[in-house]
Amino acid sequence: MYKSILSFFLVICILPLYSQDNQLLIPPTISGESIELTLAEGSHQFFEGINTPTLGINGNILGPTIILQKGEQIDFTVNNQIGETTTIHWHGMHVSAENDGGPHTKILNNTSWNPNFTVLDKAATYWYHPHLHQNTNNHVLRGMAGLIIVQDDDEASLPLPREYGVDDIPLVIQTKTFDDDKLIVLGTSAKDTEVLANATRNAFVNVPAQIVRFRLLNGASQRIFELGLTNNMSFFQIASDGGLLASAVELKRLRLSPGERAEILIDLSSVEGQEIAIKSYASELQRGYYGAAQIGMNAMMTIPNYNTNPLNGSDFDILKLIVDEPNGNGVSIIPNQLVAVTPYNSSAVNNIRQLLFTPKTFSPSNMVNGPFVIDGNSFDINTINQTINLNDVEIWEITNQSMIAHPFHIHDVQFYIISRNGVPVPANEQGRKDVVLVPPMFGTVKFIAKFEDFANNTIPYMYHCHMLTHEDDGMMGQFVVVDPLSTNNKIIDNVTIFPNPTTKYIYVKGDELIKIKIINSQGIVLFSQSSFKKEIKIDMERFSSGIYYLKTKTINGTSIHKIVKL
Ligand code: C2O
Ligand code: CU
Repeated sequence: MYKSILSFFLVICILPLYSQDNQLLIPPTISGESIELTLAEGSHQFFEGINTPTLGINGNILGPTIILQKGEQIDFTVNNQIGETTTIHWHGMHVSAENDGGPHTKILNNTSWNPNFTVLDKAATYWYHPHLHQNTNNHVLRGMAGLIIVQDDDEASLPLPREYGVDDIPLVIQTKTFDDDKLIVLGTSAKDTEVLANATRNAFVNVPAQIVRFRLLNGASQRIFELGLTNNMSFFQIASDGGLLASAVELKRLRLSPGERAEILIDLSSVEGQEIAIKSYASELQRGYYGAAQIGMNAMMTIPNYNTNPLNGSDFDILKLIVDEPNGNGVSIIPNQLVAVTPYNSSAVNNIRQLLFTPKTFSPSNMVNGPFVIDGNSFDINTINQTINLNDVEIWEITNQSMIAHPFHIHDVQFYIISRNGVPVPANEQGRKDVVLVPPMFGTVKFIAKFEDFANNTIPYMYHCHMLTHEDDGMMGQFVVVDPLSTNNKIIDNVTIFPNPTTKYIYVKGDELIKIKIINSQGIVLFSQSSFKKEIKIDMERFSSGIYYLKTKTINGTSIHKIVKL
């Protein structure tokens, strides 16, 4: 009797110490010229035998991997059945503002959205996720996110592994917190204690002893992963956010911040029969990078629950690889040359923009917790923060006056990083990017981008921190790309201008004006005035004869009018 009670206690005490390994979930794929996605409530067993309520896309958790061919025209139907409003954004893809799925393109519950676009992007791994302001973090945490694989001829001509789920493995890395009932903890102050690989805790995958490609996404709300392999083996990065690199870059560590993707190749031919793991070596992260042992400079600068989170500063497994025999049709060499990477030329720059990250109000605690703002402003859905001329090449210079690193993301474009803290970035960051990690404590980043193909005066694109907690707290701004030479940009609000053509004066009349600018056909601003009147008279005699553009901003939107000075 005594003995059996003792062994009973031994069993219940010891059992929880064994962590159950779970087979990696591989999301299904979807492709074709019309793609239907249904967002709905579901449930998923993160913990064996316990159904946790989730939101999923065409299933209970995450979404299918969408496989697209460059050049193909796709019609999407996105059905929202989650019980509340959301949006779906194609992260990293170059699509028009109306198809981009940002916070303005709301999909009300029980309605559908039908974006359609031609795939203009290069072969790489992109992703899709909700983007409703102040709900992005919760909608992603509850389970909505999926990968997009774009394929093109350049990629197809390279000897790369591409058997999905076999030697080409999608890997969405996230963290979440579960409460005592194993419900997902929501909100911007939730700590994140569970590591998930494709929504699988303690995940393992069987892989052949050959070259295996992993498509990595950091889909976490805040956490930065410092990736490496347990046996200190090298691996090779072949693609960054928006394209293949010029050549495979050998790495021991790969830092992936929220929103970033990387495709890597691991040569497993020498470890057949062994078990290795992809880990995050978070003990190597420096102060100021979310996931490091210490976040702020001192005890006053800390994030609630940060120091008690067991993931911070410790090395942890993301995915165990059980290496089986080779499958006979694998790839056996890592290609050296990949594709031509041609960054935009700095000599062709039309404009330089500076962005500043600060806490909204300065205090030691706010330096790591936020809320953070860009150029002093919290996100306001009715304010256009930047106006960019179509086809312009721009350099963006970002300075981070906070004590925490922020992964900066911009919609519409892929950019090339010129420098971080004044020095060129390593080879694996010299390809096409749409997220860049800006270091803490006066860290700087410069990148160059070209704003091509899509102009829209009214629907803006977003730029923001991809720590979803920071984004939801307002660390986001909006830009419109405008075409000053387009004739269909005439009147989108109630502004009228007269006389036009003119010799002496021009009157601008209409809605309450906020700002008026006159720019020449090179995009140079010759006159700028803020006003809060309904009518304004501008002296035109100072300008030589020619064509000008009058840009107005009113309470109802912005517009561009062509003026002829005789
Ligand atoms: Cu991944 Cu604006 O988003
Ligand atoms: Cu941030």
